[in-house]
Amino acid sequence: MMFHWLKRTMPRSLYARALLILLLPVLTLQLVISVGFIQRHFDGVTRQMTSSIATELRFVADLIATDGAQAGRAVATPLGLDVTVPAPALPQDTGRDWTDLSGLSVIAQLQADLPRFEAIELVGNDRVHVWLAVPARAVQISFDRDLVSASNPHQLLVLMLISGALLTVIASIFLRNQLRPIKRMAAAAEAYGKGRMVPFSPTGATEVRAAGMAFLDMRGRIERQTQQRTMMLSGVSHDLRTPLTRMRLGLSMMDDAEAEPLMRDVDEMQQLIDGFLDFARGDASDALEPVDIVDLVADVVGVEQRGGRAVRLHEVTGQENLTGDIPLRGVAVRRALGNLIGNALRYGSCAEVSLTIMERSIRITVEDDGPGIPAGLRDEAMRPFSRLDPARNQNKGSGVGLGLAIVADIARAHGGTLRLGDSAGWGGLQADLVLAR
Ligand SMILES: Nc1ncnc2c1ncn2[C@@H]1O[C@H](COP(=O)(O)OP(=O)(O)OP(=O)(O)O)[C@@H](O)[C@H]1O
Ligand SMILES: [Mg+2]
Repeated sequence: MMFHWLKRTMPRSLYARALLILLLPVLTLQLVISVGFIQRHFDGVTRQMTSSIATELRFVADLIATDGAQAGRAVATPLGLDVTVPAPALPQDTGRDWTDLSGLSVIAQLQADLPRFEAIELVGNDRVHVWLAVPARAVQISFDRDLVSASNPHQLLVLMLISGALLTVIASIFLRNQLRPIKRMAAAAEAYGKGRMVPFSPTGATEVRAAGMAFLDMRGRIERQTQQRTMMLSGVSHDLRTPLTRMRLGLSMMDDAEAEPLMRDVDEMQQLIDGFLDFARGDASDALEPVDIVDLVADVVGVEQRGGRAVRLHEVTGQENLTGDIPLRGVAVRRALGNLIGNALRYGSCAEVSLTIMERSIRITVEDDGPGIPAGLRDEAMRPFSRLDPARNQNKGSGVGLGLAIVADIARAHGGTLRLGDSAGWGGLQADLVLAR
């Protein structure tokens, strides 16, 4: 319970947390020690001053009791004490403000030191009235508050504040320098997640440097693997094309009836190999460039429409979040959108495209009126070479099963994802291609 609360109120950045961990104990210690010290010092001085005034009051009161008010006043006035006889009515309470801590000590000390004590009233921080019982009459003696309360030790407080501020500045400069390498590594890792290679060299403390080296190693290995995959796939596909062409030639010279099924096989293989090549080119092929996303989507839809296909651009929302072009791999995004539209038209009869622009990402949605994909099969559909249950795909032409895998790959290269769901408006599949900006 307590820790939940702590978690919610703790600042989120590492910098602020480290600063807090460093400064909180030091400042608390400083505060506790100085408050304790000031309180004691203050209290002691107040009690001493009150005690000495009490001696004077006792002397004046005794004098009034024996020689009368006139004699008392003659002694009291030079000491800064005002004598009022007869005294005004006794006050209801002491009039002490709750913030007036030294007032407590003043009252307690006077009560203890004065046998004739009757009542006391503190008037703000300026004056003190004391009522004393002298036989036959009551006497009130007043004096300045300065005579009994020590004034605030301001220098100590100011010194404390200044040293605290100095400590904060020094600590924050040190911390900022120590945390900079971590921030740089986080930025490089985030950029790589979005498919961007930013230059990065590990610096800072040993542990941070080690983490940075590990990140570089990891990034290097992933890059090598991607390159190997690309090279292997495109090499294999390329090498297979020549024998295929030879086979096609050979078949075209054969008797039609025999050649027909073999020709279909060769065509299918050709399609497979083209799919391979597409997949291999994947995200590695083109670089990030500023792209007008609204234009791009409208253009892809326009091209499909000119091909006489039932595609329409439904709506574009969030254009107010758009400030200039967005860095994207334009060719890859076109291919992804083309694949989604191709699927929608292959498995349904019409496609509807919408674009939503958000502050940190964009979403391209393609909906269709086909059978959709049941929730349990959606992950399967996005895997390379997976074509769902053949019964669903009857008469749909022979796909390779790479379309959605390529789209998911392109989404990942942009730090985004491909989400499949049900289309509320059309009843078929809804594919959301989300790209980070
Ligand atoms: N819009 C859709 N409606 C219904 N099922 C779909 C839709 N899109 C994809 N599927 C299912 O998901 C499977 C995988 O799709 P994917 O696009 O990866 O491959 P494909 O379309 O079969 O082949 P290709 O590589 O030519 O695109 C398809 O075989 C199909 O069963
Ligand atoms: Mg497809």
